Amino acid sequence: MEEKKIIIAIDGFSSTGKSTMAKALAKALNYAYVDTGAMYRAVTLYCLDNGLFDGETVDEPALQQHLDDIHITFRPNDAGRSDTYLNGVNVEQEIRSMRVSDKVSIIAAIAFVRHDMVRQQQEMGRDKGLVMDGRDIGTVVFPNAELKVFVTADPMVRAQRRYDELRGKGDTTTTFEEVLENVTERDRIDTTRAEGPLRQADDALVLDNSNLTIPEQNAYLLGAAHATINAQRKNGD
Ligand code: DC
Repeated sequence: MEEKKIIIAIDGFSSTGKSTMAKALAKALNYAYVDTGAMYRAVTLYCLDNGLFDGETVDEPALQQHLDDIHITFRPNDAGRSDTYLNGVNVEQEIRSMRVSDKVSIIAAIAFVRHDMVRQQQEMGRDKGLVMDGRDIGTVVFPNAELKVFVTADPMVRAQRRYDELRGKGDTTTTFEEVLENVTERDRIDTTRAEGPLRQADDALVLDNSNLTIPEQNAYLLGAAHATINAQRKNGD
């Protein structure tokens, strides 16, 4: 009998390594993987490049008009990882820059942007067999996901991870304090916004990975996924 495919929703704070673990899990299960943060980042890049920002504010009526012109897709690269494309251009590197990180929470708080992203994300999950990571996947996008995981870690640990990542990519100017401020400010905006705020779903497993290695957290997640898939099979649903 063919194994029943499920949807796995991974939500949590920024820089908890959600994407790393979600990618590894998708690979181990041979499931598709979608990084929804990349979608909000791509919209932010579009706004920056098209002059829709004025300081910390974005021209919302103009963005609403432009929304149909923003096409976000994912395509595998030579290393087998999925890269983000904005209107056919590979923006995988650019959407991770501080320029985008600084503004993305503003875009992610806009209701009409969220509605459009959520609609596209639900479409991607139609055939199940999907690992999706973000902030509202288990609460808004797939409230019926078979497995929900909520990832958290100490803010200092998260800032250090993001700082190391930026250094690894050749950014030698951003300081640790700036990264920490960005991480805590994004936590504040993500958890307090009216539309799709970051919050733990009641039925989510909580994973605090402050002191876990990547292999340890991968093993934990894969175990949880197999247990869920097996339970589905036993229930015959
Ligand atoms: O996971 P990330 O750091 O790449 O996410 C970028 C931003 O997008 C972050 O500020 C939170 C927001 N986001 C969101 O609001 N909803 C999602 N499903 C995913 C990300």
